[in-house]
Amino acid sequence: MEDRPITLSPSLSNTHSSSEEDKTVLEIWGGASLHGHVGISGAKNSALVIMAGALLCSQDCLIRNVPALADVTRMAEILSALGVKLERQGNSLLVNASHIAQSKAPYELVSQLRASFFVIGPLLARLGVARIPLPGGCAIGARPVDLHVRGLQAMGADVQIDHGIVNAYLSGRNKRLQGAKIYLDYPSVGATETLMMAATLAEGETIIENAAQEPEVADLANFCRAMGAKIRGAGTNTITILGVPSLHTTDYAIVPDRVEAGTFLVAGAITHSEISLSPVVPDHLTAVIAKLQAIGAQIIEDAPNRLRIVPGHRYVATDIETLPYPGFPTDMQAPLMALLTLSDGDSVITETVFENRFGHVAELTRMGADIRVKGTHAIVRGVPMLSGAPVVATDLRASASLVLAGLAAQGKTTVQGLHHLDRGYENLTAKLQKLGANLQRTQLGADGDSPLVLPDPTIVTTVTKPGVTKPA
Ligand code: EPU
Repeated sequence: MEDRPITLSPSLSNTHSSSEEDKTVLEIWGGASLHGHVGISGAKNSALVIMAGALLCSQDCLIRNVPALADVTRMAEILSALGVKLERQGNSLLVNASHIAQSKAPYELVSQLRASFFVIGPLLARLGVARIPLPGGCAIGARPVDLHVRGLQAMGADVQIDHGIVNAYLSGRNKRLQGAKIYLDYPSVGATETLMMAATLAEGETIIENAAQEPEVADLANFCRAMGAKIRGAGTNTITILGVPSLHTTDYAIVPDRVEAGTFLVAGAITHSEISLSPVVPDHLTAVIAKLQAIGAQIIEDAPNRLRIVPGHRYVATDIETLPYPGFPTDMQAPLMALLTLSDGDSVITETVFENRFGHVAELTRMGADIRVKGTHAIVRGVPMLSGAPVVATDLRASASLVLAGLAAQGKTTVQGLHHLDRGYENLTAKLQKLGANLQRTQLGADGDSPLVLPDPTIVTTVTKPGVTKPA
C-alpha cells in the first residue's frame, strides 16, 4: 500500500463544535409522501469494531460495505495514530496493521468516539501492551468499561488505571493472553467484542458466558473467522474461542445497518407512505417489525433481503421496553417514540440499556408531542398532529427521531446539532430526498439570513501513515 497523507472531508475532520458545523441545519417541510426504494448502508457498529479487529492481523484486510460516516472517520484517525495504514476506495477500506507503532491511543480521539476503546483487546493481543484513555461518559449515559477490564484481567492481563488511562499489559512468563472462562454480569456488546477479539490470539480456550448476541457481534466473529480465528457460538449467549498464534489476510463485507433500516421503516410509517428497502437482514429486525405491526403498519418481505412497509391509516399505542438483542434495540427507542407521539392512546416506553437516553423528549414536546418522563419510563400520549419547530439533536438516535417527527409535522422543522446525525446515518438527506421528502441542509450565512444549500457530508478518506516497526 502506498503511503499518502491523511485526507478527510473538512466537515468531518475536526471536532464537532466548530462554528461552521453549528450553523449547519436541516430544514424539513413536513407532510410530503414518500415512495420508491432506499438502499441501506453497511452497519456502523459492525464497521467500527471490525476496523478495530483488523489490528489483530499483520496482513492486508479489505473491509467492504463500510459506510461513509463521521464515526468511521474517527476510527480511521485512531488507527492511523497507532501507525496503521488505511486506504479508502469507494465503500471499501483497506487496512494494514503490519506495523503498529503505538500502543497508546490519543485521548483527544478516544474521547470523541467511545467505540475506539474497543482497540484495547486487539492491541493487547498483538503487542502485549495497550494504553487507552478512559473514554468518559457521553450524552446517553456513564458507559463504564469495567466489564472489558475484568475480562482482560481474567485472561491474565495486568490492568491499572492511572491518570485516566487504562494501562493493560502482559507480565511475568505470559507472552500471550491466556484463555479463560468469563461470565459477563451484563451482556455488553462492547465487552463481548473486546474479549472475543483478545481471545482470538490467546493461548487456549476462552468461553464468554452471558455474551451479547447482537448481529454486530456475530459479524465481528465472522470477520475474525475469515482471518482464521476459531470462534463458535457468536450470536448466542455463549461464545467459545480457541486461540490461534496469528491471523491472515481477508476480504470481508459487513452486514447492512439494521438501525438505519429500522429508521426508514419508521419514516414510511410516520408519513403513511409505502417504501421498500434493501439490502436488509429481516431477522435482525424482528423486534422492530413486531412493534411496527402492533402499532398498525404491515411489513412485507418481498425478497430474502428486501422489506416493504405498507402503512396503516391510523396507528395505536404500544408499550416498548429496550433490551439486549434479540429484545427491542435501544438504538430504535427514539425513532419509534416519534411514531408513537402520533398513535392513538398511551404508550409506555421503558429504557433499560442506557440511563440517559430521553434527550429527544423535550424536543419532541416542543413540536407538540405529549410525553412525560418518570425515571426510566416515558409515557407518550398520542396527539393528532405535530407542528414544525426549531429543535436541537442531543445524540445520534435522538437526531433521527427529530428528523422523523419533522417529516410528519405540519410546517417547517429546523434540526440543529447535525454532527450527531452524521455520526451514524450515511447520506440521510439525499436518501430521503430521493424518496420524495422535502428537506435540505443549509448553512446560514454570516449575517444569519442568507442560507446556503449543502449536500450531505461525504468522507474522502485516504488515511495512511508510514508504519514504524517498533511497538511503543
Ligand atoms: N456497561 C457497563 N460496563 C461495561 C460495559 C457496558 O456497565 O464495561 C453498561 C453500559 O453503561 C450500558 C450497558 O452496559 O448501560 C450496555 O452497554 P454496551 O456495552 O452493550 O454498549 P456499547 O458496546 O457501549 C453498543 C453500540 C451502541 C448500542 C449498544 C447497545 C457500538 C459502537 N455501539 O454500545 O450504539 O446502543 O451497543 O446495543 O457498537 C448507537 O449506534 O447509537 C449506539 C449508541
